[in-house]
Amino acid sequence: MLEKKTILITGANRGIGFELVKESLSKNFFVVGTYRNKINSKNLLKINSNNARFYMMDVINEQSIINVSKNLNKPLDYLICNAGINNGFGNFLDIDHSHKNMLKVLNINVLGCILTVRSFIQNLNANAKIVLISSILGIQRHNGSNATIYRASKAAVNNLMVSISEELKSKKITVVSFHPGWVRTDMGGANATLSAEESATSLVNCFVKLTFKNTGKFYNYDGSLINF
Ligand SMILES: NC(=O)c1ccc[n+]([C@@H]2O[C@H](COP(=O)([O-])OP(=O)(O)OC[C@H]3O[C@@H](n4cnc5c(N)ncnc54)[C@H](OP(=O)(O)O)[C@@H]3O)[C@@H](O)[C@H]2O)c1
Repeated sequence: MLEKKTILITGANRGIGFELVKESLSKNFFVVGTYRNKINSKNLLKINSNNARFYMMDVINEQSIINVSKNLNKPLDYLICNAGINNGFGNFLDIDHSHKNMLKVLNINVLGCILTVRSFIQNLNANAKIVLISSILGIQRHNGSNATIYRASKAAVNNLMVSISEELKSKKITVVSFHPGWVRTDMGGANATLSAEESATSLVNCFVKLTFKNTGKFYNYDGSLINF
């Protein structure tokens, strides 16, 4: 029998992250899910499986990430940086783009990814895969002025993905980013085209097919390449 692969998913308590947890369990992974707040995580914490462990962790609290990293007793085959926020769909002149709001978006979406990857590097198995959940809104060639800082944060995530992939090439660790589709979650809203389950099913199918030849690239949830 094949040995179970271990996958760590941040922002596992709701939205796409929660569906990634359920989908990974159904695909026979050992799942490590992180959440930042017990009150918002009741559905996640109800999952009772020998193949899942859940830890409290905030992606912008380095000590909380280090604590999880020290507590893991299995090496990770997949590290999925999914946690993220959007400050709304206004443009840079709107009130939702206050200095404070913009710092929050950049802090969680961009620095959160770096801090997460930095701390879990030591937990990665040989040939591990790192996936940063980005967004099509982060591509450089676009004609939208809305969600200004969110777009910039995801452009930065894709740029980070390239830097991290270069840094980890000698270790043969694969580093990619994915657009999960437009998904009906608190962030994506009710009019989005995909359910979180559809997105997660397709993403996990793509994750298991990743090889080192994919490193440094940005993919859509259906596995097609996105030029960023
Ligand atoms: N939905 C879409 O259409 C769409 C499209 C493109 C990309 N994405 C990306 O997909 C990812 C997941 O989005 P979603 O739609 O599932 O959003 P969501 O439903 O709003 O869920 C966001 C998740 O991120 C967690 N999170 C936020 N800040 C965190 C922090 N500081 N530390 C740890 N966890 C934190 C949230 O935890 P709490 O419950 O504690 O807040 C929650 O679990 C994000 O990176 C997003 O940018 C989404």
